[in-house]
Amino acid sequence: MMDEKKQGDDGSSRRTFLKQSSLLTAAVLAPPVALKAAEEHWDERVADAMEHVSLQIEVNGVSHSLKTDPRVTLLDLLREQLELTGTKKGCDYGQCGACTVHVDGVRVNSCLTLAVMNNGKKVTTIEGLAKGEELHPMQEAFIRHDGFQCGYCTPGQIMSAVGCIKEGHAGSEEEIREFMSGNICRCGAYPNIVDAIHEVSKGGKKV
Ligand code: FES
Ligand code: FES
Repeated sequence: MMDEKKQGDDGSSRRTFLKQSSLLTAAVLAPPVALKAAEEHWDERVADAMEHVSLQIEVNGVSHSLKTDPRVTLLDLLREQLELTGTKKGCDYGQCGACTVHVDGVRVNSCLTLAVMNNGKKVTTIEGLAKGEELHPMQEAFIRHDGFQCGYCTPGQIMSAVGCIKEGHAGSEEEIREFMSGNICRCGAYPNIVDAIHEVSKGGKKV
């Protein structure tokens, strides 16, 4: 912790020193207008370097080496940089579950985690659940039980449902309701969603 802080302090003093010495040289050699332009250009380059950090991430079995802004959420990285738009943005505040994905096998709200926090991790989205043309048993069960109406919440519901079974929290309808309570369905398809999850859970298939 101390070392990191020290490094940060050193880095920032070095940057300040470099900036000041560049500007001092420019001040001697250049008129005020050129000096202002030099300062703005320098700031742009620093901002650019700091806003694009390297990220290694595996998504649906494909490895990606990316540059990203450290403020970008995993949800926005998936949707806007990798064009995997199956994962939905509902509230963007961790309240609806529409953005649920699996990170290293655990369900998470991708709107609540920064992309850079997932460096080196494996992410599965709804696009990675089926095996080619063969749907995942949970996708089939949602279709069989009519577990959706508009379908907006459905990718998050399905990812969460798979997580719910993997965690061992789908033993009864009551338990399923409890452990799926973070996934909101504005169409009110809850009874059918619970039926679908219960069927897959009882079927004992590997999810
Ligand atoms: Fe992430 Fe609603 S969009 S929880
Ligand atoms: Fe419409 Fe759930 S099916 S929000």
